[in-house]
Amino acid sequence: MSEKQHKAEHRNRPTGKAFMAFMRQNWAPRDGQLPPLTEAARYAAARRETVSAAFPGERLVIPAGGLKVRSNDTDYVFRPHSAFAHLTGLGADREPDAVLVLDPVTGEDGAPAGHEAVLYFLPLADRDSEEFFADSRVGEFWVGARPTLESASTELGLSTRHLGELPDAVAKDTGAGGVSVRVVRDADGEVAAMVDRVRQQAGLAQEDQVEAAAQADAELARSLSTHRLVKDDWEVRQMEEAVEATATAFDAVVAELPEAVRRGRGERWIEGVFGLHARHAGNGVGYDSICAAGEHATTLHWTRNTGEVQEGQLLLLDAGVETDSLYTADVTRTVPVSGTFTPAQRRVYEAVLEAQEAGLAAARPGNRFKDVHAAAIEVIARHLLEWGLLPEGVTLEQTLDAEEGQFHRRWMVHGTSHHLGIDVHDCALALRGDYVEGELREGMILTVEPGLYFKSDDLLVPEELRGIGVRIEDDIVITADGNRNLSAMLPRTADEVEAWVQAGGVRSAG
Ligand code: GLY
Ligand code: MN
Ligand code: MN
Repeated sequence: MSEKQHKAEHRNRPTGKAFMAFMRQNWAPRDGQLPPLTEAARYAAARRETVSAAFPGERLVIPAGGLKVRSNDTDYVFRPHSAFAHLTGLGADREPDAVLVLDPVTGEDGAPAGHEAVLYFLPLADRDSEEFFADSRVGEFWVGARPTLESASTELGLSTRHLGELPDAVAKDTGAGGVSVRVVRDADGEVAAMVDRVRQQAGLAQEDQVEAAAQADAELARSLSTHRLVKDDWEVRQMEEAVEATATAFDAVVAELPEAVRRGRGERWIEGVFGLHARHAGNGVGYDSICAAGEHATTLHWTRNTGEVQEGQLLLLDAGVETDSLYTADVTRTVPVSGTFTPAQRRVYEAVLEAQEAGLAAARPGNRFKDVHAAAIEVIARHLLEWGLLPEGVTLEQTLDAEEGQFHRRWMVHGTSHHLGIDVHDCALALRGDYVEGELREGMILTVEPGLYFKSDDLLVPEELRGIGVRIEDDIVITADGNRNLSAMLPRTADEVEAWVQAGGVRSAG
């Protein structure tokens, strides 16, 4: 449920009877047209079937989550929980406090026969309610109209009921030997507490039963996260759109480099330009943009973006547009602000690019997720060895040793890849066996993003390399026999990147 707000005491709102009656009258009838079933909803129905098959006979409670207070009576922009978005097809800011329940259906033979999907939410209030004009948080006058039960039902292709009916629906038939309930706990603390109360009332109050229930909930969350490892066709299309919009926003940033230099506090200018495009083309940025010029590029998640952008520096931009359906790109380009790499910058850039090429070549079915990192990091380690940066006498084999080596990680401490989708670090609850050790399968979407980061105070590094940070990050979809680079439209080689900057963000054909 939504967090409680603090309203300002000084606010005064008329409450006279005549005023209230006046506000409620003479509104034209609502347009009762029902929306068609969305394409997203059709795919969501198929995803629910997979979840249903994994939990026969159990009631699954998947909340969207509620509004979170930013301060006093102001909330953060709402974003539904990713599992909820995946299983309903709802995106953007929909639908605070809604809860999807997959309710087990019993066949004539008494055996589990799938689930009925029911969406509980707060439907549009009538105009004769006080909420209509007086509730600044959810009222139609203030934040716009919500869907009715009927319109959400036709839009999403599932049953819809008023949120007030949720507690009874969750508690139904949950006594000894009855239906067991699982909830995605982190989506909504109050819904989780309500499920806990239902369990207690059903007699499941012993310590071991509470522990078993917590484990059952964790298993549901992990299962839903794992189900998202392979994307369906619609999800791949969302990712294509996210990356396309991201590429356009990168062009705009490159076009604005001279202005970022001229204005001062150029990293913020870059952040703003990217954010403008992200908010215009989609729902916004999928994560806080990393706009890191010069030495800041050696801070992996530099999101303060308070620095200058100066001639002669590299700008590392790691940013992604999130579509209205909530799928995000995650792309990095490192570009010379003045349009030409210095020899030292180019040396680092070429090494990272070679590592990325090795990672991309390893991203194919039959290989494991971790093979992508292994291929990329070997190239990184080899360059560092050739440059004389690894400890005296350490061989390539020794530094690549997982237990005793890894000296090269001083300059690339992060992994090469992660899954990408509704969350920028998608499927994070999947077990190691399914994720890092898992085989790559057609339809998986991941990043390939090696980097090298030489801090300016790193005394092990020759002076000419200090303060240089380079990352190159692309988003790929695994195909039947390899992968397709979704962000291939963006310049990537050092020459292409220079030409792009020199042309003011215009990509050369081919
Ligand atoms: N933008 C964070 C990452 O690349 O994982
Ligand atoms: Mn990134
Ligand atoms: Mn990434």
